[in-house]
Amino acid sequence: MVSVPTAKLRREPLKKGNSIDHLAYVDVTPIIGREYPHAKLKDMLQAPNAEEQLRDLAITICERGVAFFREPQDDLTIEEQKYITDMLGKLTGRPAENGLHVHPLYNDPNNIPMADGTTDENMQVLKNLDKTHLAPYVINAEAAKKLYATMKNRPGANNEPRDLAREWHSDSLFETCPSDFSFLRMESTPPTGGDTLWASGYELYDRLSPAFQALLEGLTATCAQPVFRSACEAGGYPVMTPRGSPLNAGYAFAPSHPVVRTHPVTGWKSVFAGVGLHVSRIDGVHAYEDHMIREYVMRLITRNHDCVARMHWTRGACAVWSNVCTLHAATPDTHLVEGNRTGVRASGIGEVPYLDPASTGRREGLGLPRY
Ligand SMILES: [Fe+2]
Repeated sequence: MVSVPTAKLRREPLKKGNSIDHLAYVDVTPIIGREYPHAKLKDMLQAPNAEEQLRDLAITICERGVAFFREPQDDLTIEEQKYITDMLGKLTGRPAENGLHVHPLYNDPNNIPMADGTTDENMQVLKNLDKTHLAPYVINAEAAKKLYATMKNRPGANNEPRDLAREWHSDSLFETCPSDFSFLRMESTPPTGGDTLWASGYELYDRLSPAFQALLEGLTATCAQPVFRSACEAGGYPVMTPRGSPLNAGYAFAPSHPVVRTHPVTGWKSVFAGVGLHVSRIDGVHAYEDHMIREYVMRLITRNHDCVARMHWTRGACAVWSNVCTLHAATPDTHLVEGNRTGVRASGIGEVPYLDPASTGRREGLGLPRY
């Protein structure tokens, strides 16, 4: 039994059609993730009802958080990957003036090229991330030194083991309009290592007590990423601007985002800027309270692994996710094995995040029991 919200939502949730019902799938866990073992995105693009299929895929991703495509998608071109990423947002009502994200550091002359030797302002090349532990673009040595110096808890800063909790994030929170969909295709990967994890922000919200839900719904968080300015200064080049939206411009990189956000496509509430790599400070609370809230949200993720879907990458596999309702974390362990890992990622830019007081949690929206 699906409950009907009493107040009117700012945006009516989108209803899925049946255009991709023919595709075999398995849900990764009951809560998050859907894997398509055989589907080819190329077939979807060439179908007469391609837009209908992409729209249904987009809504599925917003409901399930992340979709994995296991069959190698190596026949997909970079342009097609960009097109799909862009259309997922366009077909689900994001602001018309927004498009694909542009990486702030694209002007750096040492960007890693794609397999064909070119670079593309909308594509991020993720190569051996754990070996460098830098932002996806490898930048020159001087810039890297300055970038490291500005990073808190940087790897190797002390003799303690790495704390992988700091890997959790949602893409582009440092922008006024952060990412809606991200699409990562793994071009090459060692047989083991480098798994990516996604946690359901919907479920994190649903596991809060009503009193804590109310507290977090009243909060925003500053998502400051000063490394982009310092990298540009060290490299002597200007930041890219605008970056997928007229609102993502200049060097500020310190927007305030709601800790709990409504997903415009499903109408469900999700923990959004409560913790993670890009969240620097919960606004308007004491320092200890900031620490306590972020520790608590992290505890929800790390002590509730039923909220997490894990992708073991295979060559050509893809993951497409909604950044509105998930956090993700890379596993930096491929330095322990032979072989390179290279992935290419495109990311769309959605609306300015908002919390709609008329929205509900996912469980309430679906009529599911509270826990
Ligand atoms: Fe990411």
